[in-house]
Amino acid sequence: MNALAEELNRTIQEVNPYVFEMLSERGKRFFFPKGILSQSAEAKAKATKFNATIGVAMEDGKAMCLPSLVCSLPGIDSDDALLYSSSPGNQKLREAWKIKTLHDNPDLEGVPVSLPIVTSGLSHGLSLLADIFVNPGDPLIYPDMNWGNYALNYVVKSEAVPCFYPFFDNGGFNTKAFGEALDKYSQNKSKIIVLLNFPNNPSGYTPTDAEGDAIAKELIRIADKGINVVVIIDDAYFGLFFDDACMKQSIFTKLAGKHERLLAIKADAATKEVYVWGLRVGFVSIAVKSAKDPKPLYEAINAKFGGCIRAVISNCSSLSQKLILQALSCPSFYQEREQKVAKMKERALKVHEVLSNPKYDDAWTPYPFNSGYFMCLKLKKVDAEKLRLHLLDKYGVGTISITPTNLRIAFSCLETNEIQDLFDLIYQACQDLA
Ligand SMILES: Cc1ncc(COP(=O)(O)O)c(C=O)c1O
Repeated sequence: MNALAEELNRTIQEVNPYVFEMLSERGKRFFFPKGILSQSAEAKAKATKFNATIGVAMEDGKAMCLPSLVCSLPGIDSDDALLYSSSPGNQKLREAWKIKTLHDNPDLEGVPVSLPIVTSGLSHGLSLLADIFVNPGDPLIYPDMNWGNYALNYVVKSEAVPCFYPFFDNGGFNTKAFGEALDKYSQNKSKIIVLLNFPNNPSGYTPTDAEGDAIAKELIRIADKGINVVVIIDDAYFGLFFDDACMKQSIFTKLAGKHERLLAIKADAATKEVYVWGLRVGFVSIAVKSAKDPKPLYEAINAKFGGCIRAVISNCSSLSQKLILQALSCPSFYQEREQKVAKMKERALKVHEVLSNPKYDDAWTPYPFNSGYFMCLKLKKVDAEKLRLHLLDKYGVGTISITPTNLRIAFSCLETNEIQDLFDLIYQACQDLA
């Protein structure tokens, strides 16, 4: 074990030994290297005459660049766009995202939360968490309705054991099945990993506040039993809430700092929230109750994250980070975001209106949805994959078959006036096949 890793591990153990126990074996070995990175950081501060440390090319005191490239970036300093970012990310962006998280989740006021690190989109954040917290054989508890990439990331890549529970019960979150799954899969285990994703992909459902409280209560109950609980909260579609009943703050607020054995991890991203899918900017923040000031622990875990980022992608796109930072700093940011949420809500409400027509009842039942980009149909008579292919071939309509009974519709991609026709075509296609 590298001495720097040992030092980080000691810090974590001193602040909260349970968090140390939650680390994967790989996570325990990770550290942030001092070599080139720290030497060039020192040089940045002190090398006033010549700085010949890092592998970039400079010219006239600025990043060397081709005019044919930077002509596409008016208004952005070429150094901000082209030079390397640090592995944990642009410091100003990290601070700005933390402020945004507090703005959106006022219940976090006064709760010690780490400074988010920047990841290359949320997928990379989830992969990083798998590397640092998942050992082969660890139970990963998540619902039967889930984003397919979790399997690749956690099960295929990190060898977690998938443990499912049914997501819905009587039109809402299945709290009972969730609690039972926690009990069942934590038996004879010292640690479990729980993945929560609201608004949920593929169903588009966000639990109510009461359901959120019940979820938190169940997790705290397991932590009370002496089991270490790593809760990974995938907030990809955060903020896209379309009815009054659903939780408007992240479930992170109900878990952050609530128990010494419960590490709450918020993985989120500009991707869907800020409508910048290809820019690849995500974040990871953590919170845990600790007898001592948790700041050194947060810094130690962030150093491990930083080392893991350094190992895999070195650092995230400086240009993308700069663009998000500029957007967050713009006074109209929240207002612009609200306008887009209103547009998405209009589409979601139109889907509800169209589907309220009983003429579709023999073909499907829609799963409950109140948020996000998607909704899901539970098909009654036809196989979802057969329907998907038929829709494509005969009607030129693209949908996603998730399971043999479930068809996912991304209403986020449709204009409101296209929604009626879409469902009529799906219905027609169901009739063709039935
Ligand atoms: C639930 C969920 N989490 C994470 C992601 C990945 O986001 P990103 O594109 O930032 O990697 C997606 C993308 O579809 C998603 O649906």
